[in-house]
Amino acid sequence: MAELTLPKNSRVGKGKTHEAPAGAKRVKAFQVYRWNPDDGGNPHTDTYEIDLDACGPMVLDALIKIKNEVDPTLTFRRSCREGICGSCSMNIDGTNTLACLKPIEEVKADVKINPLPHMPVVKDLVPDLTLAYAQYRSIEPWLQAETAPPPDVERRQSVEERAELDGMWECILCFCCTTSCPSYWWNGDRYLGPAVLLAAYRWIADSRDEATGKRLDALEDPFKLYRCHTIMNCTQTCPKGLNPAKAIGKIKELMVERQG
Ligand code: SF4
Ligand code: SF4
Ligand code: FES
Repeated sequence: MAELTLPKNSRVGKGKTHEAPAGAKRVKAFQVYRWNPDDGGNPHTDTYEIDLDACGPMVLDALIKIKNEVDPTLTFRRSCREGICGSCSMNIDGTNTLACLKPIEEVKADVKINPLPHMPVVKDLVPDLTLAYAQYRSIEPWLQAETAPPPDVERRQSVEERAELDGMWECILCFCCTTSCPSYWWNGDRYLGPAVLLAAYRWIADSRDEATGKRLDALEDPFKLYRCHTIMNCTQTCPKGLNPAKAIGKIKELMVERQG
């Protein structure tokens, strides 16, 4: 388990303000969490005033503009810029979401940007996902089958079997859901959290996979699965519109069925 020694999003002081260029007409302030493990300073919030007439429409566009033109020390993750890679997940205006899919105009006041909550911070907006990835690996997210595949052809599914995976294969592992889950905040070292449990059910529900019994055995644990109390934050926050709480409910149903 990762040791939680780095600061979380508490006790954040006020930092610098970078004013908008002279003549800017449509100015928006972005209040951004900053913490650098190498300078010995405390976490603080820097404010960047951006001319929206010279900026793209999404919060990620503003962060890229800040890094390129105002403050190259600002650190955040991003890759695809279109909601596919899951890298730019962060807390914007109080909600976990993807910066590349969040329109600036949806935020009426200053745009407050923090790292995903209740995770150790590597630097600025970059959370340490070491534990989350280890938990993902623990559910063995790959197809397991003793039966050999048919010669010269892939393992096939019916249309209905394939449809069982809808709402799960789309997960981009951004961990917006997991870091919005109160049960994960308090028991994240033992509770797997909604993203990983959604992935677990994705393989349990796959008609080609033959390890269902083993997968359920591995989840039959007071903490790994049963810390979900159906609070539903996960489903409300998922930027891809997925429903991890439903997947967790399906796993619990299977647990009951096999006991009965
Ligand atoms: S439904 Fe379960 S996984 Fe989702 S936020 Fe609530 S406790 Fe967490
Ligand atoms: S279920 Fe949604 S919020 Fe959770 S990791 Fe997958 S895409 Fe992100
Ligand atoms: S940059 Fe890839 S999801 Fe936002």
